[in-house]
Amino acid sequence: MAFTPRVFSGTQPSGDLHLGNYLGAIKRYVEMQKTHECIYCVVDMHAITVWQEPADLRRATREVAAAYVAAGVDPKKNIVFNQSRVHQHAELAWVFNCVARMGWMSRMTQFKDKAGKNTEHVSLGLFAYPALMAADILLYKATHVPVGEDQKQHLELTRDIAAKFNNDFGPSIREQGLDADYFPITEPVIAGPATRVMSLRDGTKKMSKSDPSEQSRILLMDDADTISKKLKRATTDPEPLPSEEKGLEGRLEADNLVGIYAALADTTKAEVLRQYGGQGWGAFKPALADLAVARLAPIAAETRRLVADPASIDAFMADGAARASETAERTMSEVRRIVGFIR
Ligand code: AMP
Ligand code: TRP
Repeated sequence: MAFTPRVFSGTQPSGDLHLGNYLGAIKRYVEMQKTHECIYCVVDMHAITVWQEPADLRRATREVAAAYVAAGVDPKKNIVFNQSRVHQHAELAWVFNCVARMGWMSRMTQFKDKAGKNTEHVSLGLFAYPALMAADILLYKATHVPVGEDQKQHLELTRDIAAKFNNDFGPSIREQGLDADYFPITEPVIAGPATRVMSLRDGTKKMSKSDPSEQSRILLMDDADTISKKLKRATTDPEPLPSEEKGLEGRLEADNLVGIYAALADTTKAEVLRQYGGQGWGAFKPALADLAVARLAPIAAETRRLVADPASIDAFMADGAARASETAERTMSEVRRIVGFIR
């Protein structure tokens, strides 16, 4: 059966949103709403896999939802909500905990990075996190998931879970009169010039919420002056910009800044290099800073305006959750029957 094309994605309300979240994910959400039915979630249940102060979690949940809308996501045309409001996410995640294998989960590099040597003391939720992510996506039978490069392995696991569920429960799925390909094999949408935005301090590390250096990332809520200073101070090599993309090979910091420019300007790295090839950082960095401020400042201002009225954010999230719940319950009631739960 062909599945209706449907987009699902989510961002955690943990820490502050940064340029990597915007270019790798949120900006893509805005683009995909033009052509697809989209569901955008603030994954508060994922956030608590590591400790969050409850008041901070509430603030960050509203801020992420506000940032989606400020960046251009229309909460009327699409569904925007926070995950914990739709309890079927937790329910399907439990079923998937019993479909996924320990070996699959043990290979997840994000878990290994986040847990480090501390595997005895991190939460069980952090280990099971990718099964919840698979539940988020498959509850809505989403076919396309826009994310940054770092989520690729989790999406492969989502495909594995869908295939194993379809296979293990095949006879029961048919007995219920449902399509044998019950869950879709979801496509990751990892595209564009900034699928992996790197730290401004170290071109070998990705820009992240948890980097101890504030200079390593641009926050969506940074003011113009801070954005400008961080970009102008970004680490680079001393060479001028190459004229072709091939010249960026092995120049991690240069590649990163050109990618950021291209993504902000809605163009390609090749096009940026056609314009700036041969020029030095003294010319490129101020141009990049101006572009970043021009693109990010209006989003920050609109996010601030929206979070000043938390009730209106809660209202569109409640409306989104009510609409999400209809699809979520339809899937979950089928899954209960498929698995053999009596109701
Ligand atoms: P998270 O903050 O981990 O919930 O990530 C939210 C979204 O931002 C996911 O789609 C990530 O893949 C994406 N993302 C996070 N960091 C980066 C980065 N440095 N470059 C590109 N995308 C990123
Ligand atoms: N794991 C994702 C991240 O850390 C967030 C996420 C949770 C997600 N559920 C999702 C992304 C479903 C896409 C689809 O970035």
